[in-house]
Amino acid sequence: MLGAAAIASECRFAQPRDLTVAVAARLWESIDEAVSSDGQASLVLAGGSTPVPIYNTLRELPLNWDTLRLCLSDERWVAVDDPDSNEGMLRRELLGPEAYERVISLARTSDDIEADAARVERDLAVMQRAWDTVILGMGTDGHTASLFPAAPGLEQALSSHRRCVPVRPAGTAHPRLTLTLPELLNSRRILLLLSGERKWQVYREALAGEDVSAMPVRAILHQSKTPVDVYWSAQ
Ligand code: 6PG
Repeated sequence: MLGAAAIASECRFAQPRDLTVAVAARLWESIDEAVSSDGQASLVLAGGSTPVPIYNTLRELPLNWDTLRLCLSDERWVAVDDPDSNEGMLRRELLGPEAYERVISLARTSDDIEADAARVERDLAVMQRAWDTVILGMGTDGHTASLFPAAPGLEQALSSHRRCVPVRPAGTAHPRLTLTLPELLNSRRILLLLSGERKWQVYREALAGEDVSAMPVRAILHQSKTPVDVYWSAQ
């Protein structure tokens, strides 16, 4: 039996702009609270397209990059200058060059994905505190981060003691590196971002079922460690 649903709140917006403002405000609050108490803030950011307007909004705020540590939830195993790179997207949509070093990179730097995963593990060693906020998206197949249904590597990504592992989802253009479930849950809060009616239906289906291999987002929804706030916009 899966754990109780972790859903702390569900916010639904008719306009994407309203979701953008609400999530950017949550991130700003999370950063301000962490920097005020610990002198630093750490965020895991989702790839894909849904979060881009949020990153564009954050970019306009007076962020002190020296106090921030960022990491992507997952990455396509490509170089950062590849058009499919999530880190490349962050550089275009959020980061100025002075902030690039604040990102724990999952970008491809070798011809051995296991070696790259091991490098990320070493780099993550600087993170000895929980993430302040983790931002996740979801695909219409019920994947989140790069936890894809029945993917080679999914089992290890769900349960290992490791923090970052390679996965090889069928049907994606590239192998992936993903933070593991334990790493994603090592956070004060998770914000799950959904857009469109289809994703709302997939989310409700994921809530109603238990098979994590079929819909890995269930591992985020059905757990009692980390509160999850769901943000949905109609478009
Ligand atoms: C990626 C993401 C992935 C994404 C979902 C939703 O590498 O694509 O990390 O998990 O969050 O696929 O993507 P959209 O926001 O583009 O729908």
